[in-house]
Amino acid sequence: MTERSYRIGLIRGDGIGPEVVAEALRVLDAVAEAEGFRIETTDYDLGAERYLRSSEVLPGSVLGEIRSQDSVLLGAVGDPRVPPGVLEIGLLLRLRQELDLYVNLRPSRLYEGVPSALGGVTPADLNLTIVRENTEGLYAGKGEVTLAGPNEELATEVSINTTQAVHRVTEYAFELAAREGRSVTMVHKVNVLERAGSLWQRVFKEVAADYPAVPTAYSHVDAAALLMVTQPRRFQVIVTDNLFGDILSDLAAGLVGGIGYVGSGNIHPGGLSVFEPVHGSAPDIAGTGKANPIGAVISAGLMLRHLGEESGADRIEAAVASVAGKVAGGQAGTREVGGWLAEAAG
Ligand code: IPM
Ligand code: MG
Repeated sequence: MTERSYRIGLIRGDGIGPEVVAEALRVLDAVAEAEGFRIETTDYDLGAERYLRSSEVLPGSVLGEIRSQDSVLLGAVGDPRVPPGVLEIGLLLRLRQELDLYVNLRPSRLYEGVPSALGGVTPADLNLTIVRENTEGLYAGKGEVTLAGPNEELATEVSINTTQAVHRVTEYAFELAAREGRSVTMVHKVNVLERAGSLWQRVFKEVAADYPAVPTAYSHVDAAALLMVTQPRRFQVIVTDNLFGDILSDLAAGLVGGIGYVGSGNIHPGGLSVFEPVHGSAPDIAGTGKANPIGAVISAGLMLRHLGEESGADRIEAAVASVAGKVAGGQAGTREVGGWLAEAAG
């Protein structure tokens, strides 16, 4: 029997990125050892340093090499020395587009002992997964700036919504909900965004018909923001467009202890996918050893599930659940928390 082995590309990136990726790798090594598979890593030097040195963000040759990996683990990109948008659009959004990573999977779960921004909630109240469309909407880069006259600019940002893209992401949300016995809520703003909203609604109904056992609901995005705070139990799986998903996933992170406690997957089902903590590069605490590695470790768990290593993924989830409260309650640093997680997962 051949040993299971996975080639993992690493984009450690900027700020706290390398620190949290190092801890995710310790945890992955412990799980690999316990489960009997191998992880082979390849580093890709991408992010602010490379850009400042060479003006390159994601050269085609590097993208080509990345395509040969089984998965990618990314730390964070962003640096105050680089103008906003350069790395975000040139690296993160480009990877999502080029690799057709059409699902942005963002689970938010409140762990025992982690304080929520909401009072009086328990872990049973907060376990929701946002399935965010990750290739189009307002992120498609369509729009223009025209000059209507001196000092009269007209800027448009066009939201692209195709039946195909909405269908595939909705199907992913239903598959997930069916597997886990959960409901799916579509979040949009169909009362104002009539064209895109009607397309989303029609596709949602069509896909829902194939999953009669999955309860469904619809919520306008503004109401969803309110209800996530006042009645979070209403939500289990949310499927929504790119920008709504971006905003609501930060809100969800706030409800489960903060951006340090959530991970994500940029997923092309069955194909090469990119896993990253939801937090950014946090330059203010880079190098201090204070970064919370939990988001990166959760992302590594999502990666194992995507690779079919279910039992390894379960180990990581259980390790995070057992350690998170201790992290929230104390002063432990990045390395120490990584050590606890590796120990619990191994
Ligand atoms: C996220 C981030 C990105 C996004 C930025 C950095 C481009 O906010 O992953 O949620 O808007 O998708
Ligand atoms: Mg965001």
